[in-house]
Amino acid sequence: MPDRRWLEIPPTAGLPLRASDFLPATAPLASQAAAFLGVPHVGLACSGTACLVTILSAMHALQPGRDTVIVPAYSCPLVVLAIAHCGLHTELCDLQENGFDFDPAMLAASCNERTLAVLPTHLGGRVADVGLAAQIARRHGAYVIEDAAQAFGARMPEASVGLTGDAGFFSLAVGKGLTLYEGGIWISRDPALAEAISQAARKVLQPSWRMELQRCVELAGYAVAYRPSLLRLVYGNALRAELQRGNLAEAVGDVFDEDIPLHTVSRWRQGIGSRALARLPGFIETTRRQAAGRIARLEQIPGVQVIRDSISGAEGVWPVLVLRLRDEERRDKILGELWGSGLGVSRMFIHALHDYAYLRPWLAAGVYPGGAYPNARSFAAQTLTITNSPWLDDEDFARICTVVRRYA
Ligand SMILES: Cc1ncc(COP(=O)(O)O)c(C=O)c1O
Repeated sequence: MPDRRWLEIPPTAGLPLRASDFLPATAPLASQAAAFLGVPHVGLACSGTACLVTILSAMHALQPGRDTVIVPAYSCPLVVLAIAHCGLHTELCDLQENGFDFDPAMLAASCNERTLAVLPTHLGGRVADVGLAAQIARRHGAYVIEDAAQAFGARMPEASVGLTGDAGFFSLAVGKGLTLYEGGIWISRDPALAEAISQAARKVLQPSWRMELQRCVELAGYAVAYRPSLLRLVYGNALRAELQRGNLAEAVGDVFDEDIPLHTVSRWRQGIGSRALARLPGFIETTRRQAAGRIARLEQIPGVQVIRDSISGAEGVWPVLVLRLRDEERRDKILGELWGSGLGVSRMFIHALHDYAYLRPWLAAGVYPGGAYPNARSFAAQTLTITNSPWLDDEDFARICTVVRRYA
């Protein structure tokens, strides 16, 4: 085992690739993914964001009089850019006081005849209360799109996430469990809507050999370098440089270009995903068991809340454990010791969406009243993430617990 000082644990539990994943695939990725999710059909795209663009394009064509999409005020900035790309407006809705679901009163007040869709979000692999959002959205004739970018493999009690709403999408980006370096999968429980999304996909997603070549090289690089002995070189050193400069959004990769790549995924990359997918159920089970034991330990520390699924009986996936501390100061003291230590302690999104200066042009004035989403802001200020990668061994997890206990 190399010296601990040279190791870097990834911030999320991604499924490592094997050399054998690069052999010809045994089954197409779409049919493998459909069987894994328990649906008749899935669509593939070059990212979760591209899936969202495709779904929104289809919905807007069906309901052209509606032009607003409601998203949680704490989510991925790419969601806002995808909505803007479709010529639609983002309206933010605050979170519930002690969770990550929509504040139902604010959602009910925001939904109207202009609302095209509402996006309940399975944040960090946790299962959101889609039923609650759907009840409110459907009263106004709006669609429900489940943002399951971080939740491929998560299940409501009886079926995959993404099937309670009208449509749902998953990200296959780096660090997201199954990865194609960048990729996405969409599903819809409604066959007519699924056909409309497929039609939109044929228009929105064209082959791009330049982008695909880049992704193939990146995926091969990921297969080589996604291991503790090399991650310091390709990820950890850049992370620490950004932290030292105080560039927190850059450190977690929150700053995105508004130019969204939209293209199809080559058979070669799909084949790699298809072979890796065969190992995903076992990986999800291992990480689920590891999470259960570690949550039990963390919850014994006074002042620590571990974010759980919102639906009882649901089984989310566990790329990370999301911890909420009593206040920002305590959270920051913990991060001061552990972020950049190579142990996979990090933050999810740095800000509530209205606090990213570069997103402001896309959040039309008047659409966000006064910019105050207190619960989203405190979620951003009080949470940190601990990787649930199996590479974080019990000894290092105990070191993390010691620091958390010291400051919580
Ligand atoms: C909640 C959420 N939504 C959407 C996305 C976009 O997915 P992708 O990176 O595959 O475009 C992400 C990506 O991290 C995300 O976390």
